[in-house]
Amino acid sequence: MLALAMVASLAACSSSSSSSSDTTAAETEAATTAAEDGSEEATEAADETEAADSTASDGELITVGFAQVGHESDWRTASTQSCQDVFCEENGYELVFVDCDQDSAAQLDAVRNFIEQDVDYIIIDPIVSTGWDTVLTECEEAGIPVIVIDRTIDDSDNYTAWVGSDFTAEGYAAGEWLNAYAEAKGIEISGILVIEGTTGSSTQLGRTEGFEEIAENYGWTILDSQDGDFTEAGGQEVMESYCQSYSGQFNVVVCQNDNEAFGAMTAMDAAGISYGVDGDVILISFDACTAGLEYVQAGSINADFECNPLAAPFVAEIIEALEAGEEVESTVYMTEHWYVAEEDVLTTITVNGEEQELTYVTDEIIEEQY
Ligand code: AHR
Repeated sequence: MLALAMVASLAACSSSSSSSSDTTAAETEAATTAAEDGSEEATEAADETEAADSTASDGELITVGFAQVGHESDWRTASTQSCQDVFCEENGYELVFVDCDQDSAAQLDAVRNFIEQDVDYIIIDPIVSTGWDTVLTECEEAGIPVIVIDRTIDDSDNYTAWVGSDFTAEGYAAGEWLNAYAEAKGIEISGILVIEGTTGSSTQLGRTEGFEEIAENYGWTILDSQDGDFTEAGGQEVMESYCQSYSGQFNVVVCQNDNEAFGAMTAMDAAGISYGVDGDVILISFDACTAGLEYVQAGSINADFECNPLAAPFVAEIIEALEAGEEVESTVYMTEHWYVAEEDVLTTITVNGEEQELTYVTDEIIEEQY
């Protein structure tokens, strides 16, 4: 249905936008000529031009301001690309995109600028989960619907809808997989090191909470848990210090995203520590972007818990429903998979009493991944 809606809006956009821009160009020419003439019609024609301009911008394209977290990871690149692909002129949108570079103050400024620009809709992927109450009230007062994607806002529910992932569930799944895998392979968990994502992001909070709850249930020792800011450099830096401080004390490393795992692998390579299938360290990651899955397939990452970045089509569906005056779902969860490197060890895990499938990574899966 969404595909059909998109095709319909694409067709409507190409025919109406060309006729409106023709009209504007003709009127601009008339106004310019009249003004050069110094005649009375100059003012009238100029006024008409202004009116036509405003009709073209207000009536034709839906303007969407998107305050994106930054560009810290492969996941983020896929999220940005998805939004740019969906909210393009051909689909009837004008996208005002702001990369907030992981700076919360810049993100609040971006949203306030969208209000000043009087965009039709605002999309926020909140860097951190708090500090949103005032600016969301400002959006409401300006009458601009806000759609939150990916990370959650925890100190206000003053927005229209949220589309994203259940990060605590991802943390639970990683923990239960580790327990089942270690049992199946006869591995005793000696010590766990965690490289967290950006402190205060709902992603970091959820994955940490979920995994720590499972660790507590099974009596595992988490030796340390530090912020790697969801970047490869951050992951490498934290892992380098872990290799020095906890040498010989750990056999599990949990990275809260793929890019941190890439950095951790570089640090472990330099320290002469083996990891992955048949390595000394079990390496767990989150995101399951293409490069992450390639490492899973190669056996360097044991398991990768997907976080699906392709929220934009669902957001477009919400906007189209709002445009049509329809009710919208206020909460939309993305579909996600748990990817593993070994086909013959486990096929399912049980999380909170529910059996969940594990997916063995193949070439076809990698080809279709973002
Ligand atoms: O909020 C989603 C997280 O943000 C992804 O796991 C990570 O890669 C990104 O930076």
